[in-house]
Amino acid sequence: MFYTVIGTQWGDEGKGKIVDWLSSKADIVVRFQGGNNAGHTLKIKENIFKLNLLPSGIIRGKKCIIGNGVVLDPWALDEEIQKLQNQGILINSKNLAIAENICLILPLHKILDEINEISRGEHNLGTTKKGIGPAYEDKIGRRSIRLCDLSDKSLLRKKISNLYSFHKVRLDYFNKKNNQNDLINKLLEVYKKISQYSSPTWRILNEYGKNNKKILFEGAQGALLDVDFGTYPFVTSSNTSSGQIFAGTGFGIKNNHQIFGITKAYTTRVGAGPFPSELFDEIGDYLGKKGQEFGTVTKRKRRCGWFDANLVKQTVIISGVNNIVLTKLDVLDDLNEIKICVGYNIGGKKYDYLPFNENLQNLVEPIYVTMPGWQSTTFGITKWSDLPVNAQNYIKYIEEVVQIKISIISTGPERNETIDRNNILSDI
Ligand code: GDP
Ligand code: IMO
Ligand code: MG
Repeated sequence: MFYTVIGTQWGDEGKGKIVDWLSSKADIVVRFQGGNNAGHTLKIKENIFKLNLLPSGIIRGKKCIIGNGVVLDPWALDEEIQKLQNQGILINSKNLAIAENICLILPLHKILDEINEISRGEHNLGTTKKGIGPAYEDKIGRRSIRLCDLSDKSLLRKKISNLYSFHKVRLDYFNKKNNQNDLINKLLEVYKKISQYSSPTWRILNEYGKNNKKILFEGAQGALLDVDFGTYPFVTSSNTSSGQIFAGTGFGIKNNHQIFGITKAYTTRVGAGPFPSELFDEIGDYLGKKGQEFGTVTKRKRRCGWFDANLVKQTVIISGVNNIVLTKLDVLDDLNEIKICVGYNIGGKKYDYLPFNENLQNLVEPIYVTMPGWQSTTFGITKWSDLPVNAQNYIKYIEEVVQIKISIISTGPERNETIDRNNILSDI
């Protein structure tokens, strides 16, 4: 059995916590898309670990892989490794491998990310400015520098020159200086530190698969930020849905996958774009404050709203989710009543999905069902039977509308603040 964790909303659903929880049973943990735009938080007793590029299994000392579907900022990686090592986490070539065919994020991509956002003016996307979009553009444009190119100085020089000539007009226009020799030297310098991790990771992974090892794929972002199926153009530049695990790693075993859809008990989004169930009132403020909804990467305030069952139903189907893990239930504890969005009214017509047309998306009026709150604490509860009846009813109602089991419920940021309703962990 192979396990995948993906976010079913706009990211920050609590994937890091759940990957850490599941990874106690994993043999290997793998990232397959995105980059250091991700911010996965793990709280383990008094320690807080914030991971951007490294798979969350690294905290338990598990073998980890950063797959070819990720875009890699080598300096950000080096910094993250050092930061975690300072926090007492062991990282070496035995427990970390990075795909040698991974495409790199260079300083140029961060500059272009910035320029792109400025060019978009008031229609900017609110990216993390980590260079993610421009790096994927160069990957698809077949101009990228890949990790394996760093071992060959003359090849690297040729490729950097090709990349800069492609971007020259735009960089000159915005008066951005570039020094190719300086970049090459810096790349060779950082390569000395990270070359030990570079490997044909697809081989390692398929070997693990063939030997029935437990492989945990860790998604970043969320399904509504998927470049194909998300709220385009307000998305990230990778496929965040579960289909990406194969192309993003070279893992070839297509059967026996269990897919967990990490889903917040309400909805949040950072950056611009449609958000049908967004709240602009004191309840939205309450969710933001109680849920501590500030971006891990950019520290921006996250927009907050009611649970949108209509959208989650859609992402669950697209990603073939088998089980929902409902997180941050405790954040709803004080509310009098709780709304769930169960459909949309668009121009007088009912929709049980979000149409892709941007004009229609801007006209969405959510249709809500209101449920009574429970107004008692669920924080840290570990048994289903200890949940207040109204909280149980809220979860059962989501199961009914989304048509999927909610097997795991998270009631706090710590590992053990988790309800394992169907003893999933013992079966892994
Ligand atoms: P990720 O990007 O999906 O890994 O999520 P983030 O780490 O960006 O944001 C989730 C935040 O919620 C983190 O600060 C977690 O420590 C915290 N968290 C996770 N699960 C729970 C939960 O069930 N209850 C509460 N109160 N906090 C949680
Ligand atoms: P995790 O893994 C939430 C959002 C950005 C922006 C859009 C495009 O922590 O859930 P990008 O820099 O990727 O080009 O920005 O995507 N975004 C995220 N939002 N959680 C994330 O990751 C995100 N990664 C990117 O805020 O709206
Ligand atoms: Mg996050």
